[in-house]
Amino acid sequence: MRILIIGCGSIGSVLAKTVHDIPEVDHIYVTDQKKDFAVHLIDSLDKISFVDISEIDRILTEVHLVVEAASQTAAKKYVPQLLKKGIDVMMMSVGAFSDEGFKNECFELAKNNHAKIYIPSGAVCGTDGIHAASSGAFDEIHLITTKGPKSLKGAPGIIKSGIDLDSLIEPTVVFDGKAKDAVDKFPKNINVAATISLLGIGFEKTKVTIICDPNTNKNSHILIAKGNFGEMKCEVNNVPSPMNPATSYLAALSAASSIKRILGNVWIGI
Ligand SMILES: NC(=O)c1ccc[n+]([C@@H]2O[C@H](COP(=O)([O-])OP(=O)(O)OC[C@H]3O[C@@H](n4cnc5c(N)ncnc54)[C@H](O)[C@@H]3O)[C@@H](O)[C@H]2O)c1
Repeated sequence: MRILIIGCGSIGSVLAKTVHDIPEVDHIYVTDQKKDFAVHLIDSLDKISFVDISEIDRILTEVHLVVEAASQTAAKKYVPQLLKKGIDVMMMSVGAFSDEGFKNECFELAKNNHAKIYIPSGAVCGTDGIHAASSGAFDEIHLITTKGPKSLKGAPGIIKSGIDLDSLIEPTVVFDGKAKDAVDKFPKNINVAATISLLGIGFEKTKVTIICDPNTNKNSHILIAKGNFGEMKCEVNNVPSPMNPATSYLAALSAASSIKRILGNVWIGI
């Protein structure tokens, strides 16, 4: 398999290093709007080469999977083009799918061009349970996310509300509402809400609470679901990426594990 990774930040870098050692991965192309971000990968790994973002068309005929690990803007720009060419795409900036028009366009393109869209579980745990229960009926799905000030700094939802994260002395709710609004106000911080919404009851019905805890150094998610299957409560306390505190290390690991799964013949916990 030959892979192109768009975005060499915290997810793209860990992903490239992790899948580099998979024997079935023949070559990894990486691209980034800032070539400097890719240098540490090209210099240290022999199966990797850099392709300029403006020249990716040149190598797409030999690529089997493109991983978008850049931004919602990049996802909106590149994912439809790739699907039109019948290329499978793994999307990390899954919050882009809160835009119903974009989601429908991509899902249609994938269907019509026999391409696949893969969305890893990312930084959350419990997607397996939501997936299993989705063949029944849900009464409620609620995601409660707790992050430190560094992980939430700069989010439009924080800037607009005027909350001074540095002045907080105790855990404080900074958002409480539907997943659609959470993704719009925290586009880089709450992709997991998008993943859960897509799997379960959608962006309008999924509830999200975001808490800023000045005393935590973890990105934590508690996922609560109730339905005719019973009740589920899953909690994960993630180590933030040293490159980007908004992103959890688990998100990059989940992308790597998804690639191993795609390559495998036995799928456990599907
Ligand atoms: N699905 C999940 O659970 C999950 C978890 C964390 C982060 N994310 C999302 O995944 C994406 C990547 O996260 P990250 O932590 O690696 O981000 P990052 O900021 O560490 O790295 C992103 C990289 O992409 C590059 N980039 C951005 N826009 C680009 C474009 N248009 N063309 C080419 N390169 C571009 C940047 O220069 C940067 O090097 C983000 O959108 C983030 O919100 C998803």
